[in-house]
Amino acid sequence: MNKNIIEIKNLIKLYDHGNTIALDNLNLEIKKGEFVSIIGPSGSGKSTLLNMLGALDQADEGSINVAGFDLMEKKDFSHFRSKEIGFIFQLHNLIPNLTVSENVQIPMIHTDISDEDMIKRANSILESLNLSSKINQFPTKLSGGERQRVAIARALVNHPSIILADEPTGALDSKTGDVILAVLKKIHKAENVTLILVTHETYVADMADRTIEVRDGQITN
Ligand SMILES: Nc1ncnc2c1ncn2[C@@H]1O[C@H](COP(=O)(O)OP(=O)(O)O)[C@@H](O)[C@H]1O
Ligand SMILES: [Mg+2]
Repeated sequence: MNKNIIEIKNLIKLYDHGNTIALDNLNLEIKKGEFVSIIGPSGSGKSTLLNMLGALDQADEGSINVAGFDLMEKKDFSHFRSKEIGFIFQLHNLIPNLTVSENVQIPMIHTDISDEDMIKRANSILESLNLSSKINQFPTKLSGGERQRVAIARALVNHPSIILADEPTGALDSKTGDVILAVLKKIHKAENVTLILVTHETYVADMADRTIEVRDGQITN
């Protein structure tokens, strides 16, 4: 039986000086290595939840523990983020004036990995995602699916324990989206990483071990 890698109790996140309740006493436990999909209407709090899990923003009340880190502590979580978390967003957020390889090296910049190893690791992960021929290209020269594969490479390069994917196929046509989902599913199997995937599509959600539904900032199932 795997341990919980995520434990959230009565989490509250407010915006607009308290006028918007984005997370409303949310409770959630996720086990190490689980593949969980998150569905729910637009504005229900899915992205807010992912941002809390990745310490991109801090909650107002309650408790949130991720990979042994207490994320309610008032401190800088950049070390936690680079070590434990890989983010994949709907829009890939690649930096246009860096090459594909350089984009994938970004998460390793503030680590003790040598420049030479950074290049090696970036290029080897790009190779595993069938992007060897693109390493010296700029992102603008790539297709949508290729860019999203680069974003996946960047999310994986530090071997995170958790991948947070916020509608990663939302900006892709369905065929390309299916390729990206197959890549994520394969990574989940091969690396025993915890994968949390926000999606609109029920057929995508059904690929996960478990689906949770968010409504009005609470989990309803
Ligand atoms: N940075 C922000 N500032 C103000 N309100 C926000 C911010 N982010 C999200 N919200 C609000 O919080 C609620 C939840 O949003 P979000 O988590 O983005 O929903 P979802 O991802 O499910 O569409 C919405 O009412 C949204 O308008
Ligand atoms: Mg969202």
